[in-house]
Amino acid sequence: MQITMNPNSELNQSAVNVPEVVQVPERLIAEAKRFQEAMMMYTCAIREIKTKLEVLNDELSVRNQRNPIEMIKSRVKKPSSIVEKLQRRNLEVSVDSMMANLDDIAGIRVICSFVDDIYAVSEMLTGQDDIKVIAIKDYIKNPKPNGYRSYHMILEVPVFFSSGKTPMRVEVQVRTIAMDFWASLDHQLKYKKEFIDSDAIGQELKACADVIAETDEKMLSIRKSIESQGIEIKNDY
Ligand code: GTP
Ligand code: MG
Repeated sequence: MQITMNPNSELNQSAVNVPEVVQVPERLIAEAKRFQEAMMMYTCAIREIKTKLEVLNDELSVRNQRNPIEMIKSRVKKPSSIVEKLQRRNLEVSVDSMMANLDDIAGIRVICSFVDDIYAVSEMLTGQDDIKVIAIKDYIKNPKPNGYRSYHMILEVPVFFSSGKTPMRVEVQVRTIAMDFWASLDHQLKYKKEFIDSDAIGQELKACADVIAETDEKMLSIRKSIESQGIEIKNDY
């Protein structure tokens, strides 16, 4: 039996569209491998700091019958954000450049119950002898002009790989539930703000941040007054 091919059939057309084999340069493959390895190292650094925070929370919750940490969130920066940040700062886009210049590839957000828990947890973490403090920004004592509040730390933690010990940088942001609520909504609204009357919106957001900070202070003083009456506070449901 003879088979004839219809020149307009899908089969024929897809054959025409077969892409050329593209030669990927060796150095690009090597750089991609190094990137993958670097991201694995940042993930491990996050794990180290997270474990330290969990140990502190467990210990304090037994001692004080109250968890100072409500939640821990973490992430490694997306490749597109890494490239965007390097380009914005006019830096070379490479794995070496990213590791040398960016401190927030590994990020941890610690959500605390009360403002004093932020300082207690942060001091206990930075006091550990394998942690090196690179920088601290206290946006609680010195809020940003837009009302943003949080305690930021750039820390260096040693991670033990098969090749030896590597110091890795991690950005840790510590804030209350209320500060996190404001920052999350501020972040969501950010990209829309430039299209609308940013001055008025900015002032409203700042006013919200100030009310939230006042509420945080009130909640802390309520807790202190309860504690001064010898009543035990529990948040371990
Ligand atoms: P970048 O890392 O480029 O942002 O600059 P920086 O190193 O001066 O950063 P900074 O320590 O001030 O803030 C780093 C991170 O804090 C940001 O990536 C955000 O996650 C958070 N942050 C800082 N300011 C704001 C703010 O106004 N609103 C919100 N929602 N988050 C903020
Ligand atoms: Mg930063």
